[in-house]
Amino acid sequence: MTPPASLADCESLDRCDPFAETRQQFRLKPGVIYLDGNSLGALTHASIARTRAMIEDEWGRDLIRSWNVHGWFDLPLKLGARIAPLIGAAREEVLVADSTSVNLFKLASAAMMARGKRHRIVTELGNFPTDLYVLQGLAALSSGAIEVVAVPREHIVASIDSATFLVVLTHVHYKTAELFDMVAVTREAHAHGARILWDLSHSVGALETDLHAAGADFAVGCTYKYLNGGPGSPAFLYVRGDLQDGHTPGLAAWMGHTAPFEFSDNFAPAAGMARFRGGTPSMISFASLEGALDVWEGVELHEVRRKSEALSELFIARLDALTGCDLSLASPREIARRGSHVALRHPQGYELMQALIARGVIGDFRAPDVVRFAFAPLYLRYVDVWQAVTILSEVLDGLSRTEHLRRNAVT
Ligand SMILES: Cc1ncc(COP(=O)(O)O)c(C=O)c1O
Repeated sequence: MTPPASLADCESLDRCDPFAETRQQFRLKPGVIYLDGNSLGALTHASIARTRAMIEDEWGRDLIRSWNVHGWFDLPLKLGARIAPLIGAAREEVLVADSTSVNLFKLASAAMMARGKRHRIVTELGNFPTDLYVLQGLAALSSGAIEVVAVPREHIVASIDSATFLVVLTHVHYKTAELFDMVAVTREAHAHGARILWDLSHSVGALETDLHAAGADFAVGCTYKYLNGGPGSPAFLYVRGDLQDGHTPGLAAWMGHTAPFEFSDNFAPAAGMARFRGGTPSMISFASLEGALDVWEGVELHEVRRKSEALSELFIARLDALTGCDLSLASPREIARRGSHVALRHPQGYELMQALIARGVIGDFRAPDVVRFAFAPLYLRYVDVWQAVTILSEVLDGLSRTEHLRRNAVT
């Protein structure tokens, strides 16, 4: 599709946007162009209502009975079943629990315990830090029994060998948005008898992801990005049906026991995904996520991807027209190799992003010099993208080359 050539063209595309009504389900602040949905998705009205109901009507009125009468205990599995169609999984293969970091540990440790004589985990150098740190921690815990081999993307396939028991990759790179070919890499891992664990944090809600078609073994992902679950909302984990009973998390916790309310001294894993539950779930965050998932009812993922492609292509086409600035594209130019955000490099990236935020265009900065702009199709309009680049160009014109700002803790 050729990107719109004027603001008026953007307005007409917005008028026939299949998500024009979906956008009404979000609480968006006038005057803000929100391009950070890959870090923290926007707030939905349904999240507000569901969270309020859980606090006031359930916790406030029914107290501890709520675990039964309001189905709190089953919510991790119930929300997993609602996320499953968004990632190409069966309902009983997905669980919502803990954070992505903790779920990575649970699944990588489960794979480690089922590894036989193999001893190697292969991952990408420059993967999201938590993925690397969790694996490094696991290797340290194993006292040298396993090793983590982190290599640049182009060497990953060649590094998978008969000693490899697990490959851990992030489907859409957190910084550059570069996409892995999930089907091809999964096939390579399996050809060497290794399992594969996909981090779908930047994929879920942004792309059509099909774990079954790829034959993937394990997956994890955040729900506070494109799924809009709220700050720190619980993550999901996926284990392919046939692998569930042969894998037990290294972090076994009481709610994953087959009979948690018998309070036995020894861990006996529950059947299926329930064994991957951690301790008591953070119910208020679950409520916020539950509300946010309402927005996805009836949403077609191919439409999501189509609009995400169109928005990011419009952004890049308009950037191409800017001359004489120090911006360069850090994401792949080819849309088929890119997720739903666009990363740019600029020597004063931090200062640039702060100036943009002051003008109401919110993206984020990733050291040393990357600014990221995400295109969340459910609530972003073509006019927003158009105006964001207009403001970006004005900000670039006014950016002083000598200005260096003290960085906030969160960038
Ligand atoms: C690829 C990826 N994995 C994991 C995480 C974060 O995990 P957690 O929610 O445990 O902090 C992020 C956060 O941005 C991420 O981009």
